[in-house]
Amino acid sequence: MKRHDLPFELPATGLGTWQMRGEDAERGVREAIELGYRLIDTAAAYHNEKAVGAGIRSSGIDPGELIVVTKFPEEDAGRERDVLRTSLDLLGIGQIDLWLIHAPLDAAGSLRIWERFIEAREEGLVRAIGVSNFLPQQVDELIEASGVAPAVNQIAFGPHYYDAVTAPHHAARGIALQAHSPFSENDLAHPVLRTIADKYGCTVRQVLLRWHRAHGIPTVAKSLSRTHLTENLDATGHPLDPADVAALDGLGINPTPGQQA
Ligand SMILES: NC(=O)c1ccc[n+]([C@@H]2O[C@H](COP(=O)([O-])OP(=O)(O)OC[C@H]3O[C@@H](n4cnc5c(N)ncnc54)[C@H](OP(=O)(O)O)[C@@H]3O)[C@@H](O)[C@H]2O)c1
Repeated sequence: MKRHDLPFELPATGLGTWQMRGEDAERGVREAIELGYRLIDTAAAYHNEKAVGAGIRSSGIDPGELIVVTKFPEEDAGRERDVLRTSLDLLGIGQIDLWLIHAPLDAAGSLRIWERFIEAREEGLVRAIGVSNFLPQQVDELIEASGVAPAVNQIAFGPHYYDAVTAPHHAARGIALQAHSPFSENDLAHPVLRTIADKYGCTVRQVLLRWHRAHGIPTVAKSLSRTHLTENLDATGHPLDPADVAALDGLGINPTPGQQA
């Protein structure tokens, strides 16, 4: 298996842009960069790459300081190069930092897309390639068939989806796990989450982000509010005690044997 270590570090919190459109997307991206965000996550399927690109330019940031992630819609299989060129044009950049297959097809279908991804990286059109929403078994099938491990798998990974298998599985293969939807894919009203938030005097969303930090898993979170953007970027809060991390791990719908309530 060939490992392709990421040529950059994934920041603890990146900006998600799903459902951001037009002027809102442009302003949201610009404000996030001004506040210190250094990873922007978009996708061809979000239909906002043009606005995201405008936000990046209007922030005035040196593009070399930013990690731009976009995703290839798996239903466009066979049109990889056209879609990539369109993403580059709309974003207005010369190279994508991280290009992801948005979701898996069957093993043969994912492999065909992956081969085009490998070519794009070899040609320097993208700096790193990865996948999204792949299960460990689908990651293994891709590696076995292509000999090339994805640099990243972006998945919904929070206390609600916690299992003790996925993170070590990915780490053993040199794959960085990146969690999307840290808030919308978790039960914000769960009493365990509430109790822990009260203990630390913080919000349930801050507890979730601290849980990700405790596991060393970077996130992409979306916000159009300056206050929320600032709150989500703030890493200075008290780290969670190991017992609280374990209590949140125990909420998983795939809990480790012995952790099930
Ligand atoms: N790879 C994939 O298939 C996939 C799937 C889903 C998502 N993603 C990526 O992950 C990103 C994040 O996921 P998401 O957009 O589903 O949801 P999310 O980031 O989990 O939650 C976003 C929601 O939470 C609110 N929010 C954010 N910070 C807050 C705070 N500090 N206090 C109160 N409310 C807050 C936002 O509203 P305000 O705007 O009002 O703050 C928004 O309604 C997406 O934007 C996308 O980039 C990827």
